[in-house]
Amino acid sequence: MIASEDFFIKFLRIVFLFSSVVTVGEKAFQACKNYAQTMLECHNILYPSARVRVPIDFLLYPHMVLIGFRKNDTEQVAWKCGGTLISNKWVLTAAHCAHDPASGPASILRLGTATFEFDELEELAQERVVGEVISHPEYKPPSKYNDIALMSAEPPFVLSRDIRVACLQLDDEVKYKNLTAIGFGVTASGARSGSQTLMKVDVDIIENAVCNRSMKSMIKRKVLARGIIPDQLCAGDYVHGGRDTCQGDSGGPLQYMEDRVDCVNTFPLHKVIGVTSFGKDCGRKMAPGVYTRVSKYIDWIEGIVWP
Ligand SMILES: *[C@@H]1O[C@H](CO)[C@@H](O)[C@H](O)[C@H]1NC(C)=O
Ligand SMILES: *[C@@H]1O[C@H](CO)[C@@H](O)[C@H](O)[C@H]1NC(C)=O
Ligand SMILES: *[C@@H]1O[C@H](CO)[C@@H](O)[C@H](O)[C@H]1NC(C)=O
Repeated sequence: MIASEDFFIKFLRIVFLFSSVVTVGEKAFQACKNYAQTMLECHNILYPSARVRVPIDFLLYPHMVLIGFRKNDTEQVAWKCGGTLISNKWVLTAAHCAHDPASGPASILRLGTATFEFDELEELAQERVVGEVISHPEYKPPSKYNDIALMSAEPPFVLSRDIRVACLQLDDEVKYKNLTAIGFGVTASGARSGSQTLMKVDVDIIENAVCNRSMKSMIKRKVLARGIIPDQLCAGDYVHGGRDTCQGDSGGPLQYMEDRVDCVNTFPLHKVIGVTSFGKDCGRKMAPGVYTRVSKYIDWIEGIVWP
């Protein structure tokens, strides 16, 4: 009896402790809500009597960041990774994007390049110097696990109708089937004026156990010693191939936008569920792309972005 009473007291204490602490994901959700509710779309939904005409958005993926590398100030910038803007200051990306073997550390962040319908609108673009780079403390290359990092923009980006954050996926379970991965695809070293086009690919989630079967050689080589784990997520077209992210897409988002927006629980912002980590060959049959599962890192992200 004593043991169980003891347990009960401990249990109560734990409950009490938790109730006085902000739950994981709350800060991320509040931040997302605050960003969203300042937007015109939400103004119309929250105050329908005072409708404002919503101008068209130029960028379909207004949170897409390009990460640039260069050895010195005279060299051209090579845009070798992608990232997701999650606050005006912080970009979510892959840990392996912190440093490029050929070009050194990531140095430049660029937003507003990603257009599909229009040519690049130079006036939308914002470039910033990379400030802090915080890779996940458990990222231990060449091992592929915990391939996630945060980079700060110096000074912070200026958010607008066309420069927006993406919300973080808080639940491990993903209801949405039609996910989209975006990136610039190839590692060509585009100039500042970059004529490269942002590529978008619709992908399906592939179950970890199924995906794991495609990773035998990496498991053997110990770079993926435990196989595909719950902190990772696979996506692609398992049967047909051809729909996949590729080199240079690294660090970019796997995302969806909810069909219905109410501005209280769901917002006119994309939700990032994965960070492009690695793949076997791009778009090969039964060789899906592997993403770091954002929902598993909310606590870590919140501690840095919304301390
Ligand atoms: C910058 O890098 C380029 C290419 O690696 C090299 O040719 C050039 O000499 C470097 N400039 C300086 C100032 O170090
Ligand atoms: C995503 O899927 C839902 C349900 O399957 C569908 O109603 C919606 O139109 C799709 N959205 C896009 C952008 O394809
Ligand atoms: C993945 O495959 C390896 C060996 O091929 C196995 O040891 C591991 O348990 C598998 N993991 C999952 C999640 O299926």
